[in-house]
Amino acid sequence: MIRFMDLHSINKRFDKEFIKAYTGFLASGSYILGDEVDTFETNFANYCGTKFCIGTANGLDALILIFKAYIELGLLEKGDEVIVPANTYIASILAIIHAGLHPVLIEPDEETFNISPTKVEDAITWKTRAVMAVHLYGQLADMNSISELVKKYNLLLIEDAAQAHGAKNNDGVKAGNFGNAAGFSFYPSKNLGALGDGGCVTTNNLELANMIRKLSNYGADSKYVNAVKGYNSRLDEIQAMFLNIKLPFLDRDNGHRTEIANTYFSKISSNKIKLPNFSKDGDHVFHQFVIRVDNRDNFVNYLNKKGVETLIHYPIPPHKQKALKEYSYLNLPITEKIHKTVVSLPLYPTMNKQDVQKIIELINTY
Ligand SMILES: Cc1ncc(COP(=O)(O)O)c(C=O)c1O
Repeated sequence: MIRFMDLHSINKRFDKEFIKAYTGFLASGSYILGDEVDTFETNFANYCGTKFCIGTANGLDALILIFKAYIELGLLEKGDEVIVPANTYIASILAIIHAGLHPVLIEPDEETFNISPTKVEDAITWKTRAVMAVHLYGQLADMNSISELVKKYNLLLIEDAAQAHGAKNNDGVKAGNFGNAAGFSFYPSKNLGALGDGGCVTTNNLELANMIRKLSNYGADSKYVNAVKGYNSRLDEIQAMFLNIKLPFLDRDNGHRTEIANTYFSKISSNKIKLPNFSKDGDHVFHQFVIRVDNRDNFVNYLNKKGVETLIHYPIPPHKQKALKEYSYLNLPITEKIHKTVVSLPLYPTMNKQDVQKIIELINTY
């Protein structure tokens, strides 16, 4: 079976470094917010080109804490509207809801699956305070147009960069450095994945960074001195240790992902398949390679029978999930069509060329 993803093969490349670092970690006796977290925050901020990085327990918390911090700072208040693409992973929308804000779900651009600037402008009301741009599947949203819009309407711009570590535009600006703040996830299957949960916020705003740091650690200004009603959402020291070892290889891994994507792109010739749209070098880091196909069940069963595992990102759109039933009345035909037709093909940095070739041949004879 060609598996959709092989996390063991991704991580075993680093096993010697992991074991060596673990010995030091164990001996340090410092297991929460120690040197590894400090080092990672510095390194990841440098990597993204931002002034600050604050580790969090996971990507969902990173996004929630951004909104909660803006509420603490008085720039957002309960009930404010945040525009978000309707076809995102549910976490983007949950973050807005858990912060007490109101998500306004809009249709994406059907070609790129990303937030559509014209539809953002159509959705702006007197209650809109922020736009959340999600770099879905690893492809940068149209940040030039969205940045102009948020400037014109004086809105906050939050990036959900959970799937886009290292994606950059033609000027070299990376995901996490376009908006007021960005949330990243280090869930194991992400382009930069921990060996457990992890996340962070990147920002260039000192006041926001300080508030997020406080909120993530019980609202503490210093040990046992609590300035605001905070949470416990810290990046784990041992996960930071793994991430410090893996970060220097992120660009190389993204390069491997891009090579595989280019091979799929140039060699899949079946006219039953719609390939993803990507053009600019580096603006897509292929967290997922998402194709579209009518009669999806048939296609997925065919590949499965031939020994290829696929996944669907995502089978049910957020507004049709029971958890978000209050949004089920929304009329979002593009989103619903996307969710009915998308299929993600296996693509990960340690995937071998023969498997890629086999998948291409199978698709071309479908
Ligand atoms: C687009 C998007 N946003 C947010 C998240 C949340 O990240 P985490 O799973 O680390 O909480 C994810 C992760 O799955 C994601 O794909």
